[in-house]
Amino acid sequence: MVRTPEPVPDQHGRRFVVTGANGGLGAIVTRTLADRGATVVMACRDPESGRAVADRITGDVTVAALDLADLAAVRRFAQQCGEFDVLVNNAGLMNVPFARTVDGFEMQFGVNHLGHFALTGLLLDKVRDRIVSLSSISHGWTKSLPLDDLRFERRRYHRSTAYAESKLSTLIFGRELQRRLRETGSTLRSYAVHPGVAPTGLVARTQTPLDYVAEPFIRLVGQSRTAAAQSTLYAATAPAADPDIYWGPTRLFNTRGPVGACPSSALSRDRTLWQQLWTASEQATGVRYPTAAVTHGD
Ligand SMILES: NC(=O)c1ccc[n+]([C@@H]2O[C@H](COP(=O)([O-])OP(=O)(O)OC[C@H]3O[C@@H](n4cnc5c(N)ncnc54)[C@H](OP(=O)(O)O)[C@@H]3O)[C@@H](O)[C@H]2O)c1
Repeated sequence: MVRTPEPVPDQHGRRFVVTGANGGLGAIVTRTLADRGATVVMACRDPESGRAVADRITGDVTVAALDLADLAAVRRFAQQCGEFDVLVNNAGLMNVPFARTVDGFEMQFGVNHLGHFALTGLLLDKVRDRIVSLSSISHGWTKSLPLDDLRFERRRYHRSTAYAESKLSTLIFGRELQRRLRETGSTLRSYAVHPGVAPTGLVARTQTPLDYVAEPFIRLVGQSRTAAAQSTLYAATAPAADPDIYWGPTRLFNTRGPVGACPSSALSRDRTLWQQLWTASEQATGVRYPTAAVTHGD
């Protein structure tokens, strides 16, 4: 199934929370939603840079502090957040040097997966419509998900493997959340999407000389940021978007092109792993998801 690009429907009266909205794809998603009339809360690690972006957007946008590498900060954000329609779990880090979150987890897994897992669980009874989580083609670049060593205490750190594990987890999380929502009769929907490949700051955080050449190179081979934001925008706003589809670009090995159904790795379809990741994530974050249905609207 391939969708021809269509404009984002009118979003007046709808409220969004977008993580990592101060740059890259998050800023494009925020601007597009605000252009279409949405109210957007830009959840940013660095509120000052968020405000600099917000100042250039015409529309109803506010900035709030959210550091996904700190579970106490995630709780603070969730406590002060009011009800809203759509959560976009967009923030992310890739191939960074080894570091730990405040709570001691490897940084990429901690921010990309655990931070968003905790955030979503803490906000679940405040979301009225749907949750969109950003994965990546690179979810398929790992052959395992070592859930017994989330803190990297017994294995060597490989940046790209850690990123792949975090994005495999994001994809599995989006699917398992959808499965649980359906099972409990919830009216909420959970989507996993990916943007293909686009030049953003994501590729310039390795603290190696690669940081100087990666973005210009991807500018040549990838798609534009605006094109890369389309799968997120589609899943976040299209009334009929199917939550069982992994939405992303459909051309050139899913790196670019119109949004449609994308393939995912065998590991990402392993339902035993879905359960195991869920249990490990609840234990790691201390966030328990509600077991009863979360329903909104009529
Ligand atoms: N660009 C691509 O080709 C591509 C491909 C596949 C998947 N993705 C995914 O798309 C999403 C957006 O990435 P992007 O390309 O737009 O990258 P980006 O330009 O680097 O933006 C990433 C955003 O995440 C934020 N962030 C990082 N650590 C955070 C933390 N601890 N707490 C809160 N926010 C934090 C960053 O904030 P700061 O500016 O404060 O660091 C920034 O706003 C990511 O999930 C990424 O994995 C991108």
